[in-house]
Amino acid sequence: MSFNNLDQLYRSVIMDHYKNPRNKGSLEDDAVTIDMNNPTCGDRIHLTLKVTDGVVEDAKFDGEGCSISMSSASMMTQLIKGKKVEEALELSDVFSKMMMGEDYSDNYDLEDVEALQGVSQFPARIKCATLAWKAMEKGVK
Ligand code: FES
Repeated sequence: MSFNNLDQLYRSVIMDHYKNPRNKGSLEDDAVTIDMNNPTCGDRIHLTLKVTDGVVEDAKFDGEGCSISMSSASMMTQLIKGKKVEEALELSDVFSKMMMGEDYSDNYDLEDVEALQGVSQFPARIKCATLAWKAMEKGVK
């Protein structure tokens, strides 16, 4: 696949998650709740996580933000559901590396999150992409 086609594919994956967010909503009962905002624009995320015996059983998010922040939240919740807390934190670490333009291990399957790798070329948007991940890290710790 040529670079342009790959770029287009990534764009369409991002827009699909933005328009049809996965895991939108809020968990009730004993869910861990994290509210965070991006200080540079005021956009916000409300993330709820259900963690049982060290496993992220469920994750939902709500909020307002740009296509990058909301699609990243959608992809992140999809990726971490069913993962152990340590794995979710490792994936967050891998995602940070991706955003910093550093090498990240191919041993991890980032699924749709791969589509965000181009964001590393736009420093002003990195905080958009990492908002949901910071919220998740705070929630599971
Ligand atoms: Fe606000 Fe992206 S512009 S999170």
